[in-house]
Amino acid sequence: MTLLEQTGTWPETGGPDLADPSLYRDGDPETLWARLRERSPVYRNERTDKEPFWAVLGHREALEVLRRPEIFVSGRGMRLDDSPGATEAASQRMLIVTDPPRHARLRHVMNAAFTPRMVDRLRHTVRATAREVIAEALERGDCDFVDVAARLPVTVICDLLGVPPADRSFMLDRTMTAFGHAGPGSADRAAAARAHTDILLYYAELAERRRREPAEDVVTALVQGTVEGRPLTDEEIYLNCDGLVSGGNETTRHATVGGLLALMRQPEEWEVARRADHPMETTAQEILRFTSPAMHVLRTAARDTELAGQPVRAGDRVAVWLPAANRDPAVFPRPDHFDALRASNRHVALAPGEHYCLGASLALSELTIFFEELVSRVELPEPAGAPVRTASSLVRGFESLPVRLQPRTR
Ligand code: HEM
Repeated sequence: MTLLEQTGTWPETGGPDLADPSLYRDGDPETLWARLRERSPVYRNERTDKEPFWAVLGHREALEVLRRPEIFVSGRGMRLDDSPGATEAASQRMLIVTDPPRHARLRHVMNAAFTPRMVDRLRHTVRATAREVIAEALERGDCDFVDVAARLPVTVICDLLGVPPADRSFMLDRTMTAFGHAGPGSADRAAAARAHTDILLYYAELAERRRREPAEDVVTALVQGTVEGRPLTDEEIYLNCDGLVSGGNETTRHATVGGLLALMRQPEEWEVARRADHPMETTAQEILRFTSPAMHVLRTAARDTELAGQPVRAGDRVAVWLPAANRDPAVFPRPDHFDALRASNRHVALAPGEHYCLGASLALSELTIFFEELVSRVELPEPAGAPVRTASSLVRGFESLPVRLQPRTR
């Protein structure tokens, strides 16, 4: 049965499982979310053999969850179906699964790395890398845009962490294998796991080096910082390096690819975006709204409460479905339309609230600068094959987007 048939026929009491990855490869989840949201902005997602959860699909309700970290806590798991062992190992140590009041203290340590000089340096890295990858892609002409978009986020995160230039190609290679777009095959998974081990060992080396030779980067901030009067343990340092690498990589890549596809499907918006005086940051915000690469963020209710009239019990899982909230027609006029100049864009792609994306301004710079460079150097890319969506309920993105690129001539 197709997804559309399914959305039209599910019984009153049951319903589709939004955590089923296969929904996202070939289906039309936007239509499904819209139909579910019309019934209720908070959907009780029952599952066979797995714990049920509340899926938050409305914008107002999403903000209510994200902005009440004392009720909707993060420390008991950050994604549906994560292994309990991994959650326990990271809880209250890795920023994203740390709850108040410790969360703000750890965040302060990591934020210390974002000095004005560091931000300037990163902007420079973003511009130089964007130019390089676009020039290389233009030389090839036909390419998979997923590969084009992959290198920028990895390079920027290496710079942020303080990976010295001599080690960059090692980290690029290992990170692309561990967090790249390896397919679902077991050989790919094994290679990804090996690459991840290499990365963890490398963090240890880097931390040692930064203890001896401090610099302006996140690893230095982590080895020098203290939380509640004591320095971070090695494990806490590695976990938080990993949080940056895993949090800022795939998300930015999928946003870039999805942003281009949106512009290819609405060439009039590409024309708007390539005007000399175009405010590209506005388009970058729309890319974040429209692509919403982080599909869900998970919280656990710390006590009984209510959400959109639904009784949420202590211990219940509450998953905010960010792309659904970002297409709520109560907040976004013509939500399925990509508007390169959308005004007052109150999207939730970066989870405003206690856990607001730490890399938010970096992600915005990457998208802004990459698209500035792209529209100024290439004509509207042509499709060179069908796009392939990622089968995942964690990220909304693409495995492949074959395109043909030509240099800009007018
Ligand atoms: C388009 C790009 C990005 C998107 C869509 C995105 C999305 C998000 C979302 C939704 C959260 C909240 C997660 C939760 O509450 O469970 C988050 C948190 C976070 N993000 Fe991003 N992110 C992006 C880029 C980045 C980058 C470039 C970095 C780092 C260089 C980064 C680092 C982090 C970190 C460390 C957190 C945890 C913040 C906290 O718990 O206080 N992200 N991001």
